[in-house]
Amino acid sequence: MRVLTLLGRVAFMTLFAVICTAGVLHMHRPTRRWAFASFCVAMNKRSPEMRALRCEVVGNATGHVLEIGPGPGGNLACYGPEVTAWTGVEPNPEFAPYVAAAAAATERKIRLVDGVAEDLVAAGVADASIDTYVATHVLCSVDDVSQVLAEASRVLKPGGKLFFLEHVLAQDSPTLAFVQQAIAPLWRIFGDGCEFRTQWYELEAAAAAGLFIDLEITFFDAPIKLVIAKPHIKGSATKP
Ligand SMILES: C[S@@+](CC[C@H](N)C(=O)[O-])C[C@H]1O[C@@H](n2cnc3c(N)ncnc32)[C@H](O)[C@@H]1O
Ligand SMILES: *[C@@H]1O[C@H](CO)[C@@H](O)[C@H](O)[C@H]1NC(C)=O
Repeated sequence: MRVLTLLGRVAFMTLFAVICTAGVLHMHRPTRRWAFASFCVAMNKRSPEMRALRCEVVGNATGHVLEIGPGPGGNLACYGPEVTAWTGVEPNPEFAPYVAAAAAATERKIRLVDGVAEDLVAAGVADASIDTYVATHVLCSVDDVSQVLAEASRVLKPGGKLFFLEHVLAQDSPTLAFVQQAIAPLWRIFGDGCEFRTQWYELEAAAAAGLFIDLEITFFDAPIKLVIAKPHIKGSATKP
């Protein structure tokens, strides 16, 4: 009985702490952004498997690369000399010092713009100016996936590539999908707007609308410890 009471207390205190933290993060955007940036940096450091996966997805990048939501700049280590320029469009200013450090480590000159992927005109990215467009773990938190893909198509040169890697709503496990949806409100707060989504539908719609050709999507489980974040898609498409 004593043990149960103690466990109950610990569980209650933990839940209370989580809810209080969520409340603070929910109400105070700067703190949420700072906490999220610190979390992303820590996750990135911890997982060599995920680093290998991201390089497998974006490793064929060439020419002028545009990354939306580059976060701490984890993909920069994946690019070789075929990548001649790099522009990042990122709304969270907390990431800037980390991106600068990642760029310095690979001796690469970069341009980091404060902006959102839905409006690359405002970010100063011209029509048909980009060779490779990279979105890794971003489409879960943008406001409008379709608008983002329309902008991606606009800025890519004909023959330019889109590379993506995203965590998604579980497809083959209703139980997992249920758990994902149940914790979605907390996930959104701790993940700074991130949701469990079905981004492949927008990708397919964009291809059907002629914005992309050769769309390839692979569904797989990513090497992430957190089970709810395992369901992933990765792939590529080409600007016609
Ligand atoms: C989970 S992080 C991923 C960071 C990085 N791409 C990676 O693979 O490690 C999501 C990033 O998307 C950014 N983001 C959120 N909404 C965005 C938007 N509308 N346009 C561009 N970036 C956005 C966030 O600030 C954050 O840097
Ligand atoms: C990278 O290019 C190689 C050689 O063309 C190809 O086999 C591979 O599928 C490409 N990878 C991606 C992720 O596009």
